Amino acid sequence: MRKMNNLKVVSTGKYLPKKALTNSDFEKMVDTSDEWIYTRTGIKERHIVEGESTVDLAYHASMNAIKKANYDVNKIDLIIVATCTPDRATPSTANLLQAKLGLNNKDIPCFDLSAACTGFIYALDVAAQMLNSNSFNTALVVGAERLSSVCDYTDRNTCVLFGDGAGAMIIENTKEKKDAYFFTASTGDDELVLTVNGKIKMDGRKVYQFATKAIETSINKVLNDCSLTLNDIDKIISHQANIRILETSAKQLDVSMDKFFVNIEDYGNTSSASVIIALDEYLDTVTNKDGMKILFVAFGGGFTWGSALITL
Ligand code: ACO
Repeated sequence: MRKMNNLKVVSTGKYLPKKALTNSDFEKMVDTSDEWIYTRTGIKERHIVEGESTVDLAYHASMNAIKKANYDVNKIDLIIVATCTPDRATPSTANLLQAKLGLNNKDIPCFDLSAACTGFIYALDVAAQMLNSNSFNTALVVGAERLSSVCDYTDRNTCVLFGDGAGAMIIENTKEKKDAYFFTASTGDDELVLTVNGKIKMDGRKVYQFATKAIETSINKVLNDCSLTLNDIDKIISHQANIRILETSAKQLDVSMDKFFVNIEDYGNTSSASVIIALDEYLDTVTNKDGMKILFVAFGGGFTWGSALITL
């Protein structure tokens, strides 16, 4: 686990494309039912792009975060975009986002990071380390996915699960004492249980087993290393893949489901965008977020998993 010092979350934002596919829409596409999807996954609808690119999603989420804080965009000196569905291998989503934000005249590093559904936590970890090196002051960290571009809409095992969307966070070095802790891990999925090679292919049961173990391990790792318990945490913002994964994890951790923020019903699984969309939505419901302790946790293809404890 890594400890980072004096990191301030300045703002968060999100963007979901307008079009939503409901479970009844899927009943017309594959052999499935609203009842099967909702009871097995907790998903009711997911948002899908119509003509928008991954960088468009990243841009709208970033602008949402920038506008909320009335932030001077020129202060940004690092952009990392977590995505496993970039529009192209190069230029990276982050490079194109830099251009869209009008930052092409600034010599700043911008790059994409691929760690599937754990991508945002990995990206935040890297950004925090770069800020702690004191070489950078402000990072824009984004999770953006256009999973509809890799969904096989004839495969009922996978297509009902995924949606498009993006979330963004602006973090700054601060003089205030705000600590952050990160744990990231991986194990090479050489049996190819979960792959995207053109289209998503997945052995759902194996992923389910891996996911419940990964959440428990990641949460306990950070809590134990920080000598904290779940009572010290205001909210767990988990990757949203399946409500039953979260319910199993809550039981394993002996904690009420109220500790977890859940929005899977509305968005499905948006991979690396999921935790930052969830945090942004959760913060919209909070009146005084100062000093809150948020525990991010995620798992995904690769396999990757990890957690982050941040103080708002
Ligand atoms: N509608 C109807 N039936 C379906 C559907 C569907 N949409 N999808 C699968 N089925 C059928 C299968 O064909 C199979 O039928 P069979 O028994 O006749 O072969 C049966 O349902 C499968 O049943 P279960 O194995 O009991 O399904 P399970 O309860 O495991 O639920 C699910 C499947 C939802 C995929 C679950 O395993 C799961 O959520 N796994 C984790 C997936 C996940 O989190 N993926 C994201 C990883 S993150 C990332 O990095 C992308």
